[in-house]
Amino acid sequence: MKKQLDELQEAFAKQVEKITDREELERLKTEFLGRKGKLKDLMQQMAGLADEERKLIGKRANEVKEAIEQSFSEIENRLSASEREGAMEREWIDVTQPVLGAVGKGSLHPVTQVQQDLEDLFSSMGFVIADGPELESDFYNFTALNIPPTHPARDMQDTFYIEGQTNVVMRTHTSPVQVRSMRKWGTPLRVVVPGRCFRNEATDVRHEHTFHQLEGLVVDKGISMADMKGVLETVAQHLYGKDTRVRLRPKFYPFVEPGVNGEVTCFLCKGEGCRLCKKTGWLEVFGAGMVHPNVLREGGIDPDVYSGFAFGFGLTRLVMLKYGIDDIRHLESGDLRFLKQF
Ligand code: DAH
Repeated sequence: MKKQLDELQEAFAKQVEKITDREELERLKTEFLGRKGKLKDLMQQMAGLADEERKLIGKRANEVKEAIEQSFSEIENRLSASEREGAMEREWIDVTQPVLGAVGKGSLHPVTQVQQDLEDLFSSMGFVIADGPELESDFYNFTALNIPPTHPARDMQDTFYIEGQTNVVMRTHTSPVQVRSMRKWGTPLRVVVPGRCFRNEATDVRHEHTFHQLEGLVVDKGISMADMKGVLETVAQHLYGKDTRVRLRPKFYPFVEPGVNGEVTCFLCKGEGCRLCKKTGWLEVFGAGMVHPNVLREGGIDPDVYSGFAFGFGLTRLVMLKYGIDDIRHLESGDLRFLKQF
């Protein structure tokens, strides 16, 4: 029986060396120490021994059992330690590494920034801010603005059309919201309309099929060109500083009479003449004029009682001048390398 115990211990010693994981450990535990394990088996056989011998063998059996338990607990400790190490290896992080692929904080598009700045200014002067459809009726975009279907002025503003629809266009300017506003609110009226416009352009650094304008309209009794100039000067000085002057020169627009082309002193050379203003000292930034009687009539307003002025800023152009952007196509490109600079 003693020999059997020795053999058992030897067999255990051999197997124990091979343990590399917990599964193996548990399997050996059951094999040697389990209820139906090898040691239990031997102990049961001891019942048949004489008292004296049973004492001796019993003592030996206990030693073997303790030795086996001892090695199991050593192995268990070793396994736990290496598991902890493995976890440290797996969960290791480099706290100095920059955040990869994280979505950064966004910023407003430069057009939106200038638009919001102007909206604040016009609100402070009592203007409402209005919106209009980008897919506009031919009527509001042209006819209501004193541009009848056969008028040559239509040629200057080619746009995009919708297949199978003859009476809608992608609006070529924000001016259609003039008559919409008159019909909606009547008089007295003070409104600005920032928005997206479209033209069928051969694109280059200065031409783009999509761009932004900011329209303005004031209608009341006794409105004159002096009021118009006052408002436009306020805007120019807000944008480019107190000593900025406004120059108005005659220009034809079918929806105003008289119509003007508006320029402001070049903010870069202060009127001296430079590359930006093409040596003229002036920058062309808006069109304006006294609202044509036909347009007032389309808006349901009596031109014998009321008068008004309108203006249209090239919002995209203002943005390009403000930030020195040399290619208009950057603005609608969605290119993050461009947008992140604002
Ligand atoms: N709608 C004109 C354009 O896109 C700009 C303009 C000129 C607007 C004169 C006006 C205006 O309100 O009075 O070229």
